[in-house]
Amino acid sequence: MTTLQRAEAAEHALSQELDRVVVKSVIFTSGERDPREPVKRPPDDGRLYMMGHDPRLPKMPDRPTLFDFFRLRFGPSAHLLQSARLAVKNGVDEKIVLACLLHDIAIAGFIRSDHGYWSAQLLEPYVDEEVAWGIRYHQALRFFPDEAVGYRYPELYLKLFGADYVPEPHIQEAYRYARNHKWYMTSRLITVNDLYSFDPTVQVELEEFTDVVGRHFRQPKEGLGFDQSPAAHMWRTINWPTRYL
Ligand SMILES: [Fe+2]
Ligand SMILES: [Fe+2]
Repeated sequence: MTTLQRAEAAEHALSQELDRVVVKSVIFTSGERDPREPVKRPPDDGRLYMMGHDPRLPKMPDRPTLFDFFRLRFGPSAHLLQSARLAVKNGVDEKIVLACLLHDIAIAGFIRSDHGYWSAQLLEPYVDEEVAWGIRYHQALRFFPDEAVGYRYPELYLKLFGADYVPEPHIQEAYRYARNHKWYMTSRLITVNDLYSFDPTVQVELEEFTDVVGRHFRQPKEGLGFDQSPAAHMWRTINWPTRYL
């Protein structure tokens, strides 16, 4: 069996143990398979389809908070925590500390591609407009140095994307727009504190930011995902990523 076949067999065995059939969204597998092909689904054997909590994941509280998502749905968040701590150390405004803590949440828990935009959209109903704006544009600003504030093109990007990578026209356009915006420096400060060479020996706890989040993140009382905000569905999808509909 090839690695892919083995993975598929393991997945099939696992789905057999679930009492609900799980069908993956196209975006989860697009690229690994041709998205035009029908999505593979295990035989249902008379079972119902997944419509809520997936038992393979830790159960979220009924009214989940931002920190619940950090703990129960997001991948390792050392990058976010260490960036936020650096922002504190650099003495920036608390709102920017929050922006640094949350700037890559789409990578941590949702969709990596165009992560600045997805992160901003997830957060928009709950944070200052300026914070969401800064997070949206940090993605484009990361590609453009600003020596005046000590921001250079990341070494890491040379390694990741090659020396000849040139940001696409829509990213250049977003950069030009952000560069001339009154909130440019908010977004720029996210990139300045965006720490990639993080120290694996340094442990930063989420609790370090409880107060900052309490002051600058409007946690909905119904829980993220259940508050009918324009982003609620995105939080629900992170909570229940395998719901059939
Ligand atoms: Fe980012
Ligand atoms: Fe980042």
